[in-house]
Amino acid sequence: MRDPQLTRRGLLAGGAAAAAGALAACAPEQAVSPGRAAAAALPQAAPAVIGSAVESFHGAHQAGIATAPQAHAAFVGLDLLPGTGREAVVRMMHLLTDDARRLTQGRPALADTEPELASAPSRLTVTFGFGPGLFTAAGVEERRPESVAPLPEFVIDKLDKRWTGADLLLQICADDPVTLAHALRMTVKDARSFARVRWTQRGFRRGPQTLAPGTTQRNLMGQLDGTVNPQPGTPDFDRAVWVSQGPEWLRGGTTLVLRRIRMELETWDAADRVAKEFTIGRRLDTGAPLTGRAERDEPDFARLNALGFPVISEYAHIRRAHVTDPGMRILRRVYNYDAGLTPEGHADSGLLFASYQADINRQFLPVQKRLAEADLLNEWTTPIGSAVFAIPPGCSADGWIGESLLS
Ligand code: HEM
Repeated sequence: MRDPQLTRRGLLAGGAAAAAGALAACAPEQAVSPGRAAAAALPQAAPAVIGSAVESFHGAHQAGIATAPQAHAAFVGLDLLPGTGREAVVRMMHLLTDDARRLTQGRPALADTEPELASAPSRLTVTFGFGPGLFTAAGVEERRPESVAPLPEFVIDKLDKRWTGADLLLQICADDPVTLAHALRMTVKDARSFARVRWTQRGFRRGPQTLAPGTTQRNLMGQLDGTVNPQPGTPDFDRAVWVSQGPEWLRGGTTLVLRRIRMELETWDAADRVAKEFTIGRRLDTGAPLTGRAERDEPDFARLNALGFPVISEYAHIRRAHVTDPGMRILRRVYNYDAGLTPEGHADSGLLFASYQADINRQFLPVQKRLAEADLLNEWTTPIGSAVFAIPPGCSADGWIGESLLS
């Protein structure tokens, strides 16, 4: 028979003294003596508060791209209401810019219904993107960059309309989910007279206090994801991400390809570690290439094993995705998504694959084409959503996002 004191009910019924006794009996080295219990109740060194951290809103570029990724993200795709023309889009962008300018700095939006929720900005950023339909509605079709258009169909795609296309993007990121929810509600409320929500995609990554700064995050397949990426503040980043040669109005802006990619985690679980590492071409523990020892070691794509086969497979994800010119890379600012469980307990999760680049045709498409043709990872990943946006440049303190296109 079980000791009644050790059952959950026994612990609860017996009160604190019984609980302390039972704990002492279970784990003497961790027993709670009255003195240590009192010490445990004393305030510990207060953790740094991240709620007051602010990302600046004004500048040559919109925030939320070169910004170190926050823990939470919401991507909201909206379609303009029929009859919403250029003048209405201008009014909407004035309103939305004003909301973003205030909320990101920890101030309530105009007519904020819960102004207290604005007081912890938590590195909030609100980034706006224009989909192909906005150019048509606003009568500026001739200024749409050629590559801001639906992507060609890939054989690996199983796109669902629920996650595909949109005229306007709100990308809202923050280290705190309450701040994010508030900013999302306020901005969407103001957008409602002009547009309808087509989709909302929420994502998350490890928070800023979970890992040391600069540590690469892990995706839900357990891989270090983001090792080879342009580094903000370097000339390669500027060349890869910001538009400098495209249409005049987009200079200082960029483009975004947002792909919702489901992970087939049940079958991924069935693969062993060797297969998982072979698929990517990197180790799961350190993220090192299979030809190296540390995460940042250069992969040696030419190295052969004892049998004469490449150590990093011809079809490994990193070989197929590799680009030699760092200024031609894409910026992967990805978020995990977890949309709940099926009745069988299987996860509906994957990656919100957000790729920023100066030119989609020159940078994103060649990589995506190579991956669609052959990539071992395709066995466990399925693109189910796709949307493309021009991300206008930033604005000054008295400007608004989109003015270089629409004013
Ligand atoms: C769910 C889907 C995906 C997963 C789980 C995934 C995972 C990974 C992992 C683990 C790495 C190696 C570490 C790193 O450098 O970050 C990597 C590298 C990379 N991935 Fe993906 N990836 C996915 C989809 C994509 C897509 C759709 C693209 C582009 C169209 C892409 C482009 C790249 C690039 C450019 C690299 C760096 C390659 C290099 O070493 O030069 N990935 N990915």
